[in-house]
Amino acid sequence: MTNIAILGFGVVGGGVAKLITDNYKEVLRLGGDEINIKYILDLRDFPDSPFADKVVHSFDVIAEDPEVDTVIEVMGGSHPAYEYTIRALEAGKNVITSNKEVVANFGDEFLNIAEKKNVSYRFEASVGGGIPVISPMISCVGQNKISEVRGILNGTTNYILTKMFTFGDSFEESLKDAQEKGFAERNPDADILGTDACRKIAILGALATGNLIPTDKIHTEGITKIRGEDVEASAKVGLKIKLLGRCIISDKGVQIMVAPFMLRDSEALSTVSGVYNAIEVVGEPIKSAMFYGPGAGAGPTASAVVGDLMQIMQSGTKCAKPVMNKTDEHLLPFSDFESQSYIAVKGGCENCVKGAFGEVQFIDADGEIAFITAKMSEAKTEEALKALSDKGIEIKSRIRLL
Ligand code: HSE
Repeated sequence: MTNIAILGFGVVGGGVAKLITDNYKEVLRLGGDEINIKYILDLRDFPDSPFADKVVHSFDVIAEDPEVDTVIEVMGGSHPAYEYTIRALEAGKNVITSNKEVVANFGDEFLNIAEKKNVSYRFEASVGGGIPVISPMISCVGQNKISEVRGILNGTTNYILTKMFTFGDSFEESLKDAQEKGFAERNPDADILGTDACRKIAILGALATGNLIPTDKIHTEGITKIRGEDVEASAKVGLKIKLLGRCIISDKGVQIMVAPFMLRDSEALSTVSGVYNAIEVVGEPIKSAMFYGPGAGAGPTASAVVGDLMQIMQSGTKCAKPVMNKTDEHLLPFSDFESQSYIAVKGGCENCVKGAFGEVQFIDADGEIAFITAKMSEAKTEEALKALSDKGIEIKSRIRLL
C-alpha cells in the first residue's frame, strides 16, 4: 500500500484526488500497488466532498506519520510550500509538485536533499501541464547537444492570443474566459506579465544546461502591450504572435528570455492554439523534437502529477534524477541578443524609418507605419528606436520575430 498526502485541495489537488479515484484500475495496473489518499491538507473543510474525512489542517500530522511515502504539493506559491517540501524530504518522503514557483526558485536545494535522503523530488506538472516533457528532458533527450529549448509555456496567454487572432476578441474578454475555465493563476498577472512562463523556461533551461538561472536574471516581457493592430498587421504577412520562452545555448554562453515573438506559418510552434502548450528541443543529433498537449487545467495537470507518482511506484529510489546548480555564470547580456523585429510607429515617414534602420519590409497599416527590420542586436535596435523617438516619432509597438 502506498500512502500519499495531498497539500492543497484546489483545482489541481481536486484533480489529483479525482484522477486516482476515477482511474483506480489504471493507476493500480501502472503503479503495481494500492494507493491510499491518507491526508489532504487545506485551511478549509470540504463537508460535501467524498474526501471530507481526509482533510487535515496541520502539516505536522503528515510530516510525523511514517506511513506517508509521498507528499503531493499542489498548493502553489513559495511559502509555505518551500518549508513543507523541505520537511517532507528531510522526513524521508518523496515529493511531487506542480508548483513551478518553488521549482524555479529552490529546485536545486530540493534535489540535493532528495539525493541525500535517497528519495525522489519530481516536478513533471510544473511545465506544460499534462505534457510529458520534464521526464523526457531528463531521460530521453538530455544526451543531445541541445542548442535551444523553446516553447509556448503558458496556456492562459496562448488562449488569449488565439482568441484575439481568430475572433478579434478583446484582451479583457479573453482573459476573463480563461480565468472562468480554471487555466489562469490565482493572480493572472503572473500569466499576462510573463512571470509564469519565466519560471517554466528557467526549469527547462536548467534541465538543458544543468544551471538553474535565477528568474530575476531572465529577460521577461508579457503580452499586455500587444494591440489588435499588431495582431492584424502580423496576419497580413503570414505571422502569428506567440508568447515564447527561449533558452539558447552556444559555445559563447546562454541566452534565456520570455517575450512575445512573431512566428512564420512554417514554424511548428505557430500551429499551437488555445490552452495548448508545446516545447521544442533543438539539438544534435536529434535535430528537433516537439512535445505538445494541454498546458493547464485540473485534468491535464493531475495527469502529470499522477504520472510522477507512477514512476516513483515503479522505480522507487532508482527514478532518474536531474542535476541543477543555481548560477548565472554563463548568461550572456540580453543586449547582445539578435533578432528581426516588427515595429509600428505613428508620425514620421518611410525615409525616416530607413534612415534609422536601413532596408526594412513595410507592412500596409492604417494610420501607422509598420515594418520588419533586418536581424539586429537588441542594443542596435534600441539605438535605432531612440533615433526615431528623438525625431518626435511615436513608437507604438515592437515585437521580435522568431
Ligand atoms: N496559469 C498557467 C497557464 C497554469 O495558464 O499555463 C499552468 O501552469
